[in-house]
Amino acid sequence: MALWGGRFTASTDALVTRLSESISYDRRLYSQDIRGSIAHVRMLARCGIIPGEDSERIQEELKRIEEEIRGGNFDFQEALEDVHMNIESRLIRELGDQGARVHTARSRNDQVATDFRLYLRDEIDYLTELLHHFQSSLVELGKRNVKAILPGLTHLQYAQPVLFAHHLLAYVEMAERDIDRLADCRRRLNRLPLGAGALAGSTLPIDRESVAEELGFDAVIANSMDAVADRDFAIELLSALAILMMHLSRLSEDLILWMSQSCRYIRIGDGFCTGSSLMPQKKNPDVAELTRGKTGRVYGDLISLLTVMKGLPLCYNRDMQEDKEPVFDAVDTVKLCLAAVAPMLLTIEIDDRRMLEAASDPGLMATDLAEWLVQQGVPFRTAHHRVGRYVAWCAEKGKKLNETTLAEMRESIPEAAAEALELFEARRSVEARNITGGTSSMQVKRQLAAWSEKLESLLAKA
Ligand code: ARG
Repeated sequence: MALWGGRFTASTDALVTRLSESISYDRRLYSQDIRGSIAHVRMLARCGIIPGEDSERIQEELKRIEEEIRGGNFDFQEALEDVHMNIESRLIRELGDQGARVHTARSRNDQVATDFRLYLRDEIDYLTELLHHFQSSLVELGKRNVKAILPGLTHLQYAQPVLFAHHLLAYVEMAERDIDRLADCRRRLNRLPLGAGALAGSTLPIDRESVAEELGFDAVIANSMDAVADRDFAIELLSALAILMMHLSRLSEDLILWMSQSCRYIRIGDGFCTGSSLMPQKKNPDVAELTRGKTGRVYGDLISLLTVMKGLPLCYNRDMQEDKEPVFDAVDTVKLCLAAVAPMLLTIEIDDRRMLEAASDPGLMATDLAEWLVQQGVPFRTAHHRVGRYVAWCAEKGKKLNETTLAEMRESIPEAAAEALELFEARRSVEARNITGGTSSMQVKRQLAAWSEKLESLLAKA
């Protein structure tokens, strides 16, 4: 008989049992469920709602059940639907009437919301740690190759030379925003639903604040209906994870491009590539490709939950049981990708000669010439136009921008001087961008040092 079976006369259809069950995936909430129940019965006893000795017995038994589950010896039953009823049924089987007191002033609606929040709070902390490792791999790769210069792209076309480390540091910044979004999500998530009951609270004199404190929540959720109806925290987490994956996917795309035959700027270690079952020469950047692919899956998880929630009236609706699988899937996927990408980065070796060769195409320094003209007093739009004319003239003559004489340059750019012909050097161009946020080695080294220091102390604490 189901725990809710009092008013039922016929047993549940077998297909309904299959449709209804969540134990196959929500069993991963067992330790949070037990933690929540322990805090709950302690409070019930403190408030004189159940006898102290019953609370003690329940706590002991819950700890025993937890050990059993951890050891893989607990017999989860589909017929008992979910993790909450599997554990409660067991408690009642072992303790009889004493166990039957655990669900006092509680519903599965506030229970599951509490378990889910506790679980995601831990996952957020772990994801944050993984993001710090990811950042530190990027910084390390940048430090190992601090002199390397790469053609920076816009529209996938050569634009201006940049330091390779500057490019990597852009991803460190993205990861920092991801960490920030997770922290922000955690802040709103860390509120206690328990005590809301099914939706309206309880007639029993419970003390929600003390449960919140015991479980490490910052506060109780103020409105009992909101407490059981809200899944914003899960959607916010999925949004943050979707953005995070978008970042990993863009990095993956960069790596795939750099490893392609058209660039050949990097080699990725054998341990992080795979071969072809047919073509013996192949070595493919599969970790990057799979990460790019799994981004679609995490976006799907976000859209799933948004869609589940959009039409639901207050408060709890059974549809909401569909919240867990997408969130678990996204969390698992992101953890796996971060865990694989961070060490992969450390296996990358670069061909700085090829990178520099590509970045040394004088066309990439056309902006330097326009800005040099600005320093000679030419308005920027005029300078841009004259350099454009010069670029067209060179293209027509089949010359590179630094292969003309000064006289030839002056035909397009009357203000040109000998110095202008010396601007077409990639390293000079990089070093000239010595402003805050620019790509000069002084700026980039400063950034690398600041990130190293910050990450070292964070990872030492973890
Ligand atoms: N397994 C359920 C879920 O995940 C727990 C809450 C069930 N509540 C109910 N009223 N049937 O949502």
